[in-house]
Parts: sequence; structure tokens; C-alpha cells
Amino acid sequence: MTRKIELKDLRSQTWFGASGQPGNHKSYRTKQMGFTSEDFQGKPVIGILSTWSDLNSCHTHFPQRIEEIKRGIWQEGGFPVVMPTLSVGETYVRPSTLIYRNLLAMDAEEILRSHPIDGVVLLGGCDKTTPGLIMGAASMNIPAIFVPAGAMLRGHFREKWMLGTGSSTWGALADFRAGKIDEKTWRAFGEGTARSPGTCNTMGTASTMTSLADVLGLTLPGASSIPAVDARHSQMASLCGRRIVEMVWEDLRPKDVVSRASFLNAVIADMALSGSTNSLIHLIAMARRLGLELTLDDFAAASESVPVICNVQPSGSYLMEDFFYAGGLLALLKRLEGHLDLSCMTVTGKTLGENIADAAVYNDDVIRTAENPVYGAGGLVVIRGNLAPRGAVIKRAAADPKLQKHTGPAVVFRNFKDMLARVDDPDLPVTADSVLVLQDAGPVGAPGMPEWGMLPIPKKLLEQGVRDMVRISDARMSGTSYGTCILHVCPESRVGGPLAFVRDGDLISLDVEGRVLDLLVDEAELEERRKAWVAPPPHYERGFGSLHIEHVLQADEGCDLDFLARPGTIPDPEARF
Ligand code: FES
Ligand code: MG
Repeated sequence: MTRKIELKDLRSQTWFGASGQPGNHKSYRTKQMGFTSEDFQGKPVIGILSTWSDLNSCHTHFPQRIEEIKRGIWQEGGFPVVMPTLSVGETYVRPSTLIYRNLLAMDAEEILRSHPIDGVVLLGGCDKTTPGLIMGAASMNIPAIFVPAGAMLRGHFREKWMLGTGSSTWGALADFRAGKIDEKTWRAFGEGTARSPGTCNTMGTASTMTSLADVLGLTLPGASSIPAVDARHSQMASLCGRRIVEMVWEDLRPKDVVSRASFLNAVIADMALSGSTNSLIHLIAMARRLGLELTLDDFAAASESVPVICNVQPSGSYLMEDFFYAGGLLALLKRLEGHLDLSCMTVTGKTLGENIADAAVYNDDVIRTAENPVYGAGGLVVIRGNLAPRGAVIKRAAADPKLQKHTGPAVVFRNFKDMLARVDDPDLPVTADSVLVLQDAGPVGAPGMPEWGMLPIPKKLLEQGVRDMVRISDARMSGTSYGTCILHVCPESRVGGPLAFVRDGDLISLDVEGRVLDLLVDEAELEERRKAWVAPPPHYERGFGSLHIEHVLQADEGCDLDFLARPGTIPDPEARF
């Protein structure tokens, strides 16, 4: 390790090393907690920003990991301090964790800014916690390393060993609603799909985002693939504790590690993983926090050239545990070498190329070759047209190929409540050729684009055996979901996007291959509808919800709050008594 900075340069020294009363005060109040001078004086202070809580079902192992991280920090001569932050458990938070991603990012940034912290270990994994923590640390730009929670074990129910959290339960739900399995079996099945600590075991949003944090160079190499309960996960946590202390002395900060080229690598990997559609929103938001440009066009370009080679649900067959045994993310990146910029820096102080030099694939069915892909092109496709002038997205690798070129009449639901009330109505005028449209589910509308985009197939069609239909909304979809769902339609209906003007029976034309989504209604008629349209009243009159709807950016800009996404510097706080 080459030390670039000295003790006097540490941020925390303006607290602990201050002369007179300010420094003395910090010293005796730290001793109040039972620490001696030897524990903290003259050492970098390392924050452990933890998203643990009793209402985050994926982070139950974090208390033990925190102890392991601390061990590493002590060993390397740092002073560890644990700082709890918003836990944003995907399972429980309503109406949408996306809103709270931004609150977590604010919380993380402000905790770091207002305290004597020299470097930070970010502990997250469940969906929004990864982008939220990274966005906050990126804006603060002090040395930071990410500890991904790791995925839970494979699901298991009776003779079945390949049950994916979410992905398999959606299928069981459809079977239950169609009367094919009874309630007892359906419930027991669900319990079998989530049976250990860790994040969802499919390539859902959690595993997508932790994998992409790994590609960006913000984790120890390959850390994102280690199952949550594997002993190597504990070892990784401890090594992160050691490494962050070194990073402080090396003054290696997020803006030194991550470049636009790192983001383009992440986009390539995202295509090969057939990652969650949520990743478009999160990567764009994260890039903007680092002052880097990333747009939907970057995703569109990558999706032409990179096949899906990761055979993990929901686009493939296996689960995250199998992905790890097959060599994990580093092995996948090795296969993608020709597409990547290997000179990108990482938290190890080494390049991505150096980190994957020895990686190898141990199972060619789980991590495929380009010649034998899961899907011949990128998993995610950006679509535009008069219904989505600023873009929409579909996970085509998880959609029925027969529906990818389709024209059908719209069945419109004005909002989520309206959809719930009518979708199973036997009199709903819907056939397998209809296009289900959900309005008012966008960043401002719902608010926070809840994961409603995989609209349920109407019960009467389910009973006829229909399992996929074209569905269109300004909502998001769980990374574990599948189907011909056009998501993130931008601009959203609540702000007067064209989606707001669709009416029952209008023909909608989708061409995934041609990248087009059009509403086949003539412009004069649309103009009439536009003039007659009145925005629904806002959901909130006060509080964080108000702040969100007044400042949230649209999906193509990452759904960050405008005042957090914009460039600018914030000075370190003044000393006080
Ligand atoms: Fe936490 Fe899926 S619910 S990762
Ligand atoms: Mg999810």
C-alpha cells in the first residue's frame, strides 16, 4: 500500500485532532463509550453504514457481518463505528421502495457529511439499498467499499430444488388463481422459496444491482456472487474492513474508482445477465451522482451486441447459488472480456482486467458461451414511439417471443385500484389479443413507480391457459418477474405523457425487434384528448411524499430528486464546540 495522505489530512482529525476544548470534548465523549485513547487516537475513523433492521428480511445476517467488518478494521489500524441508516426492506415498504431509495441516499450522504468519518463500508443488498447507499457515498465522495448482502440459498419444496424467490412464486400464484393447486400447497410452496438469510436468489433487482456494483469496481472482486450464508461471505466482510482502512490512506475515492467506462462495462454485464429492468433507473441515477453521463441510448447500443449468457431465473433456469458455483460474476466477466474496458479502476487499487485475470467458468450450462447463449441478444431493450417518446423498457429475454410483434386493442385501467377492481371481472371485454394498459403508476403518479408493471392476467383468460399478454405501464416490475411487459413508459401519464390519453379499444402496436411502441390514434384526435385532460390531484399535501412528487425526475433520468442529481459542491461542516 502506498500512503498518499498523512494523519493530519484525515477528515476526522478536524474533530479528534482539534486543539483546545473541541478536541478534548470529542476525546472524553468517546471514552464515555468505553474506548481508550489507544482505540481511536491517531486512527482513521471508518463508518459502517448498515441497512439492517427487523423489517428487512434479506439482511438478517448483518449483525454478524458487522462484527466481521469491525475485526478487519481493527486489524488494519482503523477505528470502526456503526451507523444505522434506512433499511428499505423490499418485502414490507409501501407504496414503493424507489421513493425511499432517494431518502436513503440523502440519509447516507448527510450521515457521512455531519460525522467524523474518513472512509465507509456500505452494507446493503436488498433491491434499492445498493443504489441508495452508493448514490449517497458517491455524492459525499469519501473512500467507500460496498459489502453486498449475498443471495439466499436455492428454494426447496418437496422434490423441487430450483425454486426462485419471486420468479417461481408468480407461477404458483397463477396456478392457485386458476384453481390448479390448493391454498395449503400454495402457502407451503412460498415458504420453500425463501429459506435462509440473504437477498432474492434469482437475477432480480438485488442480485443485478450487487453484481453491477461489483462490475463498477465498488466491491471486492466477485463479492456479489457469494451466497449470504457461505463462510466465504464472512471472510469477504472482514477483508472489506481491512481494505477500507488502506483505501483511506491511499485516498481512493468513488470518483477515482468509477468512470463512464465503468458504467458502460456495467451496462454490458447487465445485458449478459439479463438483469432487472430496475437497473436502468438505478445506473442512470448513480452515474449522475458521480457527474457522469449515462443515457437510455447506452443501454440500447449494448443490447444489440451482447447476448444473455447468464442462465439464471427469471430469464434462465438456475439460481444465484449455482451462479456462484459456476465461477460467479468474475467468470462471466471473463467470458465478456472482448466487450469490456479492462483498464477500469476498482477498490482493490487494481484494474478490472487484473481482477479477472484468473477467473474461470466451471459450468458451461450456468454461464454459457456466446455461441450457445440463453438468448441471442441483450436481455433488456429500450423502445420508443408515440406512446413513449422518451423511452420505455422491456426484458425481452423473459417475454413470450410470439407477443413481441403484436397489435391489439387496449383495455385501460385508470390506476392500480381500478385494475384490482376490474381485472378479474368476468364481463371485462378482454381476450388474449388485448393489450392491458395501466395508467397513473409512474414516478409522480403512483407515486414512485411501484412494481405493478407485471399486470395480472385476467382470471377468465388464466382459466383458458393464457400465461402472457402484452402489458404496458409507466410502473416498474420486480426483477424477479417475467412476461411481455412494457415498463417505465416515459413521460408518465400523471405529468401528461401520451399514456394518459389511451382509451379502451385504441389499437396499440408493439414491435420489440423494431424498437417501436405506437398508439394507432391520429394526431388530431390525440390533441383533442390532450386538451380535455386534467391531472389528478397530488397524493400528498405535506411531508417527504410532497418533496418526492415535487422534485422527482422521470424514469429516463433515473428518478432521483432534481436537487440531489444536480452537480455542485458542499463544503465540509464548520467545527463547533
Ligand atoms: Fe430483499 Fe428481494 S426482497 S432482495
Ligand atoms: Mg424486487
